[in-house]
Amino acid sequence: MTKLKGLRVFAPATVGNVACGYDVLGFAINEPGDEVVVRETEEFEGLRIVSIHGDPEHQLPYEINKNTAGVSAQMLLDEVGYNGPGIQMKLYKKMPFGTGLGSSSASAVAGVVAVNELLRRPFQKRELLKFAIAAEQVADGAIHGDNVAPCLMGGMVLVRDAKLAEAHRIFLPGGLHAVVIYPEIQVLTKDARDILTASVSLEQHVQQSANLASMIIGFSNSDLELVRRSMRDIIIEPQRAHLIPHFYDVQQAAFDHDALGCSISGAGPAIFALFANSLLAEKAAVQMSKVYKSQKMKHKVYVSPINMTGAHLV
Ligand code: HSE
Repeated sequence: MTKLKGLRVFAPATVGNVACGYDVLGFAINEPGDEVVVRETEEFEGLRIVSIHGDPEHQLPYEINKNTAGVSAQMLLDEVGYNGPGIQMKLYKKMPFGTGLGSSSASAVAGVVAVNELLRRPFQKRELLKFAIAAEQVADGAIHGDNVAPCLMGGMVLVRDAKLAEAHRIFLPGGLHAVVIYPEIQVLTKDARDILTASVSLEQHVQQSANLASMIIGFSNSDLELVRRSMRDIIIEPQRAHLIPHFYDVQQAAFDHDALGCSISGAGPAIFALFANSLLAEKAAVQMSKVYKSQKMKHKVYVSPINMTGAHLV
């Protein structure tokens, strides 16, 4: 039998929620991201994670059913009834976990895309979403696709029904750039979900849904002033802001420098802000970063266009 070469897949970081789209909306950025390398082997049967790089504190499990990269890949193998040679998987974590940039989602997506490629694409890319959503559930116990969907498909994606893996790309005007900044602390998604109140008032629901719908109309019509008025989260952000040091100062710096919107990225502590172009984003990034510099707080900042490709072979 001819031995297949290994292949490597990159899956990008994502900003979940995008302010008013809690659990349903997200977009991908160019960096950071995770990589998965898969290769056929005669040394063992089935799928095994043989190495995890970029996890110095050994926080990530090697067990296939506990690591999101393994879960998504195994689900695909089960669905096709795979009984070929063993598959070894190497996971390269290029972003810290617990930052709100969809780290577990990137692994879930990279894992399933890589195995799909190794098997010569039994599924189209979009069909992999159900595996990645199910795998993401292993990480935080909840079913939502606001990170995995844009990570897989690229662009900004709205997930109408995570259980059905029904997701839709949102039209975006050209030139948009995001600033993503995070203080180097860890906030576990599960913890940031546990603190959320289970009920919202009718008034909050009306305002939040009006903002979400208007923001999407704003993107679709390239009406950035409508986006600017709409990109507000009145429900989740006020409940989580205290988990992020100096959140409101960083947000103010973004708004003072022409951000269309600025809120928590996913469950945090990353903060994202969206800008009409790269120049505005670069300028604002400096000012947002100054907040943490002045507090002598270790942090990382990225400026990126929206990644329109999603996970891909490298
Ligand atoms: N929508 C999720 C949350 C993203 O905010 O909890 C984190 O994975």
